[in-house]
Amino acid sequence: MAKIKTKYVCSACGYETAKWLGSCPSCGKWGSFEEETVKKKSSKTLHKAKINSSVSTATKPVPLKDIDEKQEQRFSSGISELDRVLGGGFVPGSFILLGGDPGIGKSTIALQIAKSRPDLQILYTSGEESASQIKQRALRLGVKNDSLLAYTETDISKIIDQAITIKPKLLIIDSIQTIFRTELSSMPGSVAQIRECAALLMQLAKNEGITILSIGHVTKEGELAGPRVLEHMVDTVLQFEGDKNLNYRMIRSLKNRFGAAHEIGVFEMQENGLREITNPSELFISEYAQPVSGSALVCTMEGSRPILLEVQALVTPANYGTPQRTASGFDHKRLSLLLAVLEKRFGMPFSSHDVFINMAGGIRVNDTACDLGIIMALVSSMQEKPLNEKTVYIGEVGLSGEIRKVSRIQQRLDEAARMGMKELIIPKYTEKLPVKIAVKTIQSLEQALRDMM
Ligand SMILES: Nc1ncnc2c1ncn2[C@@H]1O[C@H](COP(=O)(O)OP(=O)(O)OP(=O)(O)O)[C@@H](O)[C@H]1O
Ligand SMILES: [Mg+2]
Repeated sequence: MAKIKTKYVCSACGYETAKWLGSCPSCGKWGSFEEETVKKKSSKTLHKAKINSSVSTATKPVPLKDIDEKQEQRFSSGISELDRVLGGGFVPGSFILLGGDPGIGKSTIALQIAKSRPDLQILYTSGEESASQIKQRALRLGVKNDSLLAYTETDISKIIDQAITIKPKLLIIDSIQTIFRTELSSMPGSVAQIRECAALLMQLAKNEGITILSIGHVTKEGELAGPRVLEHMVDTVLQFEGDKNLNYRMIRSLKNRFGAAHEIGVFEMQENGLREITNPSELFISEYAQPVSGSALVCTMEGSRPILLEVQALVTPANYGTPQRTASGFDHKRLSLLLAVLEKRFGMPFSSHDVFINMAGGIRVNDTACDLGIIMALVSSMQEKPLNEKTVYIGEVGLSGEIRKVSRIQQRLDEAARMGMKELIIPKYTEKLPVKIAVKTIQSLEQALRDMM
């Protein structure tokens, strides 16, 4: 007889304990423990399971020289912006996780692959929508794909059986939080279920060579819901980002075993689906009738792609004791650091001012090369002095106010030139840079601010 026992599992990291705990000793999260029942296997069944597993995994260690080097034959998703984040298309037998906020367009892009690749055999399993809802969406998006099979099932073993019989080129799971294994007593979406289903899907991908695109929900904090181990298990983690009130959407690769990480693909949400944006720099620059203060242009690298964008700053006298610091699309701590540099080195009274920073178009940047531009926008707003709207600021700002070199400067210069900019302010480089527009090199923040005054 199988004994029934309960255990508590942290929903964030998968840490297990016998008793309920308020905070997780492993990841420090509060109130994350969920109860799970486990059927304790008797020693007899455990022994049997061991034998079975040794039969099923009948691979032996092989010397490297004896392994066939199958050239990975990637296949395109038909959406070039998606191919870009995948590192040049889907790798057969890979497992991709696509996370993102509710309603951001995860199901839409999954269905759109079927639209752009009408020849591709796709099995679309949905646990969130009925077959007729899928049909309606497909009609709205204009999907005409006779090799697309819609399957509304949540039992993982049935999904795997169907996938083995049909052998689709691409299996879409919408979403990993809705599928479950009947053998486990915990709820769909719980740590145990997600971990188990992901392991089974991974096995399916590797054994059958089926590419799996699984959609995943995110938590309130914007992290992928489910245990952290999930991100380690899969080959590629893609994140759908963007301000829901704006129509721009970005897919970013957070991890990729078969390509460069941190690549982004840019889209615009329209009535008939997501439209690719091949020239994102156009998107993130506003057109003003006349120059305004608090706006500066920077050039950020998103993966291998340079993007020109506008930083907007608003500095106003603070009404209360502690001034407000709001940064959207930029690291809050980095903003505090830059403000501290301005206050300490140049005596600018930011501690008595509220500061708001916004990256145009809802993009999130994590590139220190934007430091100089952000500082220029802040000072421009405080002093009500508009900057030249065709000037791009590139450079990392150090703690003593020095301007440091940034990576991939040539690509950034080329992008600024391509976008018709007139002037570039960049750090001093020893090597000679071939440039098509006026370039001014600076070594300190003081120099940049002096030129502005
Ligand atoms: N008729 C429509 N016209 C224009 N846009 C629409 C229309 N219907 C849906 N959309 C857009 O599609 C989005 C929904 O996309 P989708 O269902 O793919 O999101 P999702 O990420 O799968 O969400 P969930 O996590 O809830 O499944 C909506 O937020 C909306 O912007
Ligand atoms: Mg959906």
